[in-house]
Amino acid sequence: MKRITRQLFRLKDLNLILSESHDPLRKLKKVLGPLELILFGIGVIIGAGIFATVGTAAAGDNLRPGAGPALILSFAITAVACGFAALCYAEFASLVPISGSAYTYSYATFGELVAWIIGWDLMLEYSVGSIAVSLSWSGYFTSLLSGIGIHLPPWLTIDLRSALQGYDKAAALLSGGAALGDLTPALQKAWNAIHGAPRIFGTPVTFNFPASAIVLILTAILVRGIKESSRFNVAIVIIKLLVLGFFISLGAFFIKPENWVPFAPNGFAGIKAGAAIAFFAYIGFDCVSTVAEETRDPKRDMPIGIIGSLIVCTVIYMLVAAVFTGIIPVGLLKTSLAHGKAEPLALAMQHIGLGWAAVVIAFGSIVAQIAVLLVLQMGQSRIFFSMARDGLLPKVFSSVHKTFRTPHVTTIVTGLIIAAVAGSTNIDEMVDLTNIGTLFAFVLVCFGIVILRVKEPNRPRGFTVPWNPVIPLLGVASCIFLMTGLPGITWIRFILWLVAGLIVYFSYGIRHSRIRAMK
Ligand code: ALA
Repeated sequence: MKRITRQLFRLKDLNLILSESHDPLRKLKKVLGPLELILFGIGVIIGAGIFATVGTAAAGDNLRPGAGPALILSFAITAVACGFAALCYAEFASLVPISGSAYTYSYATFGELVAWIIGWDLMLEYSVGSIAVSLSWSGYFTSLLSGIGIHLPPWLTIDLRSALQGYDKAAALLSGGAALGDLTPALQKAWNAIHGAPRIFGTPVTFNFPASAIVLILTAILVRGIKESSRFNVAIVIIKLLVLGFFISLGAFFIKPENWVPFAPNGFAGIKAGAAIAFFAYIGFDCVSTVAEETRDPKRDMPIGIIGSLIVCTVIYMLVAAVFTGIIPVGLLKTSLAHGKAEPLALAMQHIGLGWAAVVIAFGSIVAQIAVLLVLQMGQSRIFFSMARDGLLPKVFSSVHKTFRTPHVTTIVTGLIIAAVAGSTNIDEMVDLTNIGTLFAFVLVCFGIVILRVKEPNRPRGFTVPWNPVIPLLGVASCIFLMTGLPGITWIRFILWLVAGLIVYFSYGIRHSRIRAMK
C-alpha cells in the first residue's frame, strides 16, 4: 500500500526535466522569439469564442441566463481570472521551459498521479476544444459556400446524431401540418440530410466532412514543421485583427445607446454565466507555454508572449462586446439565435443593413478559426509527446521526425482522432466541456506555484508572480468561481472523463512510467 502511494506521488525531478530536453534524439528546433509568441498566442486565442459563443453569452439559452450589454463585464471578469492564471503560467514556463505545459509543471510539483490527471484533463482543452472549433468553422464555411452558390450535400455537413434529432423534430412538426419551408434552417437541413443520405443496410450515413477535412489539412502542415506553421499563423493573425478592427470601427457609427439599457437584464447571474462561456474566447494564452522548448530564450520570452497576447485580446474583446451590444438589441438577438443563426457578429452587421460587411466578418471568422485550430492541435500533440517521453503513454508517441524535427507520430495520431470525432459529433456539448477542463487545469497550475515556492525557493526563475501566495490563490478562487457558472450536466461529463483517465492510468501508465524504472 505504502509502495503504491509512493508511486502515485513520485515527483519528476526538475533537473531531470531540464536535462531531458537536451537529449539530441528528442530535441525540438528552437526558432521562436517574443513577437512570434505573442502572435502565436493571438492566433489561438481569438476564434470561435468571439465570433460564435459571444451570442449565447449575451442572450443566454435554455441552460443559462444571458449577460445582456453587461457582456463587457463578463469579459472583464474572465480576463481578470485569466490574468492571475497567466502570471502563474508565465512563472512556470520560465522555470520549466519544456514542452508539455501544465502537465510537465504538475509532474514536478504534485507528482505523477496529478500530472496524469492534468495531462488527461488537457485533452479536453486541446482535443475537445479543437473539435468544437472545427465544427464552428465547418458551419461558417458551409454557409459562406452557399452564399457563393456552392451547396454541399446536407448529409456531408452534419453528424448523424444531430441529423436524427433534427429529423425527428421536423417530422413531428410536419405531421402536425407545418410546411417544410416554415421550419428553421437547422431543422430543414437535418430533414434534407437524412433524406439525401446514402444508406448502409438501411441506416443513413451522415458526416461533417468540412470539419474533418480542415483538421486533416492542418495536421499535414504541423508535420511539416513549426517554422512554416508559425509563418502561416502570422498571416492569419493579421487578417483576423483587421476583420475585428473593421467590425469595431464600422459598428461604432451605428451604436444606439438605448440598446445598452437595461445594462444587466439578468443581474449578476447573467454576468457570471456569460463569463463562464466567454472563457472559451480566452482559451489559448496558456498554449504559448507548450512551445517553450522551441523558444530561443524562454525565460525572457515566455512571460512576454503569454501576458502580452492576453492583454491584446482583452482590449479587443471588450471593444467588440460594447459595439456588438450597442448595435443589436438583446431581445432581437435572442430570437435570432433561437432560430438557428449562429453568426452573431455577422447578424449584427445585417441588422444595421450592411450585408456586405456581414460577408467580410464571416470570412474573417473562418480564417480566425483556422489559426485557433492550428495551435490547439499543436498543443495536443506536444502534451502527448511529453507524456510518452515519461513512459505514461506508448514510447512511439515521443519520436521526432528526422528531417522536420517535429513530433510527427503524435501529431498524426491525434489529428486523425480529432478529425474522426469532429466528423461525427455536435458542437453544443463541446464548448462547456472544454471550458471546465481548462479551468480545472488552471486551478492546479496556480496552486502549483504556491507549492513550488515552498519546495524549490532558490531555483532560478526568469519571471516570478508578484505577491505570492495572494495572486496564485486568487487565480485558484476565480477559476473555481467560473467553473461554478457552467451547467450541472457539464460537471457530470467532466467527472466521467476523469474517471476514464484514471482507468487508463492504472492499466498502463503506472507500470510503464520512466520515473518508476529509474527508482
Ligand atoms: N479561444 C479560442 C476560440 O475562441 C479557443 O476559438
